[in-house]
Amino acid sequence: MKLAILSRGPKLYSTRRLREAAIQRGHKVKVFDTLKFGLYLRQGEPDLTYRGKHISDYDAIVPRIGNSVTFFGSAVVRQFEQMGVYCLNTADSILASRDKLSSMQALSRHDIGIAETAFVRNQNDILQGIQEMGGAPVVIKLLSGTQGVGVILAESNKVAEAIIETLSSVQQNVLVQKFVSESKGRDIRAFVVGDRVVAAMRRSAVGQEFRSNVHRGGRTEVVELDEAYERTAVRAAHILGLKVAGVDMLEGKDGPVIMEVNSSPGLEGIEGATGIDIAGEIVSFTEEQLKFGNMNVRERLTLTRGYTISEFSITPGASLAGQTILSSGLREHDIIVLRITRGGEQIANPDKNRELMVGDTLLCYGSQVALSSFMPDRVRKRRRKRKAPQKLDDHDPS
Ligand SMILES: Nc1ncnc2c1ncn2[C@@H]1O[C@H](COP(=O)(O)OP(=O)(O)O)[C@@H](O)[C@H]1O
Ligand SMILES: [Mg+2]
Repeated sequence: MKLAILSRGPKLYSTRRLREAAIQRGHKVKVFDTLKFGLYLRQGEPDLTYRGKHISDYDAIVPRIGNSVTFFGSAVVRQFEQMGVYCLNTADSILASRDKLSSMQALSRHDIGIAETAFVRNQNDILQGIQEMGGAPVVIKLLSGTQGVGVILAESNKVAEAIIETLSSVQQNVLVQKFVSESKGRDIRAFVVGDRVVAAMRRSAVGQEFRSNVHRGGRTEVVELDEAYERTAVRAAHILGLKVAGVDMLEGKDGPVIMEVNSSPGLEGIEGATGIDIAGEIVSFTEEQLKFGNMNVRERLTLTRGYTISEFSITPGASLAGQTILSSGLREHDIIVLRITRGGEQIANPDKNRELMVGDTLLCYGSQVALSSFMPDRVRKRRRKRKAPQKLDDHDPS
């Protein structure tokens, strides 16, 4: 295949390794500086130039979009997508994972462990945000920091409040996060490629530092992940739509606690720690995926007027309960069941003789009118009642 790597630095370790791995597998590969593209939008023919010249066709793109070029970089990736070039990590998935708030928002509706986070702006809400996160010590984070910069451990509520107020006053958005102290300055980086974790390491902060980032002197060691950590990492990457992801998890008392998901995870630390050829894994995964492209299923399926894709649950007393797909009448109404979710199990392409049970969630494609007649009236998911946060004393150590 003909592979393009988008990166600002051809000499960077990750870029070099990806290039090497592609050459080793007999592919043609070129590194492009992300910022030197020009994008052109014309009816029916999205196009781009590199250093002012039109470029030949590429089969696949491996984007390595750094934090400082998110906007332009993701636009370049999106342009390649429009031109039908397979992009390992799409523009949408890069954007979804890029800031710590939006990625946590996307993850929070799912049943996976995440670091409890509050985002408040109004001065009257700040103390409540701190208290909801268990009170000091709490972690305060800039929305788009990396490498540990912009992550602060506030030892008292007063200090936390002052930091948030100060940063807000200079137009910096900050998150307040529960401090996961049981992780003891350690975290897990799981490197996800496709459906699996190809390598994992534990990073430990040194000395008084609570941040385990390698850039903050954190030490790395190989770690054999147990299943819960592996499942959580893959799930998080899937939810954000990432094919390649570095998922950072704290070791909480009840299992993995996701802190952040990186769409351009570095290779140096983790290849060094584990000795695994991750670049090779990325290139061979790209080879496999090439046939499938970056199809946005929902968009494709709903472009046909009157048709939609929908997911709904079978409630007690519903006409579908206890029927097989054949006897349910779904097919006669032009509805196809694409998948049944039953408990933790997923049944893809269920057979016509498959029975439908109360509690099943059906993912269907069909005519909007017919579908709505089978769907239950929308019942809002009840929110769990939370205990009001206890008012905490402020232990200001001074
Ligand atoms: N809620 C938390 N509880 C405990 N430690 C944390 C928490 N959030 C971050 N840390 C520590 O700080 C480090 C940096 O935080 P992170 O959110 O990953 O920011 P960055 O994008 O700068 O790496 C983490 O690797 C972890 O060691
Ligand atoms: Mg991090």
